[in-house]
Amino acid sequence: MINNIEIIKAKTTKINDVDFDNLKFGHVFSDHMLECKFKDGKWETPKVVPYQALSLDPSAKIFHYGQSVFEGMKAYKDENENVWLFRPLDNFKRLNISSKRLAIPELPENYFMDGLKTLLQVDNEWIPQKGGSSLYIRPFVFASGNGFHASPADEYTFIIATAPSGAYFSGKVKVLIEEKYSRSANGGVGYAKAGGNYAGQFYPTQLAIDKGYQQVIWTDDNTHEYIEEAGAMNIFVRINDTLVTGPTSDRILDGITRKSIIELAEAEGIPVEVRKLTVHEVVSAAKDGSLKEMFGAGTAAVISPIAGFGYKGTDYDLPELENTYASSLKKRITDIQTNKAEDPFGWRYKVE
Ligand code: PLP
Ligand code: COI
Repeated sequence: MINNIEIIKAKTTKINDVDFDNLKFGHVFSDHMLECKFKDGKWETPKVVPYQALSLDPSAKIFHYGQSVFEGMKAYKDENENVWLFRPLDNFKRLNISSKRLAIPELPENYFMDGLKTLLQVDNEWIPQKGGSSLYIRPFVFASGNGFHASPADEYTFIIATAPSGAYFSGKVKVLIEEKYSRSANGGVGYAKAGGNYAGQFYPTQLAIDKGYQQVIWTDDNTHEYIEEAGAMNIFVRINDTLVTGPTSDRILDGITRKSIIELAEAEGIPVEVRKLTVHEVVSAAKDGSLKEMFGAGTAAVISPIAGFGYKGTDYDLPELENTYASSLKKRITDIQTNKAEDPFGWRYKVE
């Protein structure tokens, strides 16, 4: 544990203005944030400071060349006020994988982990206890160094900001299988949590929203024949009783929820296939009734059931089932995350 993390407390708290019974996702922010800079070739020791606006030079490279990566995590408080994270080292490792791809310096593990734990201790009151709510944690690193030269910056800023949050989606979502645009390509940055990956999705997603869908299902950039991801989630399809999800690649984020669901489903005796999945197969399964479920999986959305999908001008509805894999797996994973069930996998991490 780094024992010299300086804590500069906010003069007042905003917590009394927050309606913890009606939390939206990522809308109000806790009193403090963790911050440190990379300067002169090294990371400075992180500090906990009041949550505040940043001051950046207009030439800061983040604005021009988009060097920015982030993570998404959650902290949960159980009925005994214990605070838990879910597989946090995987988020730390993935942040560095993303940073490396964007030529951003990697962070030391103790700066991330000890910094996060200290921040959660300072803002403990902000961690919701109510079922379905949690403290959404957003670690991010961006190029705060200046200059118009198109090359990596010489200064970076690492921040962890947090937001008490409710559900990301309310209810089931209707998705559109993408035929033209791509979110990622071979050799690109699709496997990284790079800010620009999301910017590139907004326009095609808005076109889908205008047509009455909430999300785009991304297909491979080359042929648009393979199902890859669902917006900011990995995607699972249930055909008869088998759960299928695509293999991770250069183009697909290695989701922590995705890999946990694969392990959980296998442990429950659900047949799981990690293999390429064609749009053709999903459309045929929808037509012959063997397509039972589709759902997205990610930290923010947890497991988000899909009500139906559109493809080449036709809408396909999924059946309304009584007992779904989506609901049983969501209960299994959230029970583990919130310390309501045993954690045979060793995923839960106590913050103390
Ligand atoms: N895919 C993308 C593009 C994402 O942004 C996310 C969200 O983090 C995921 C998948 C799911 O990843 P995880 O389960 O690690 O949150
Ligand atoms: C997450 O699931 O944590 C994400 O990062 C998705 C985000 C884009 C809202």
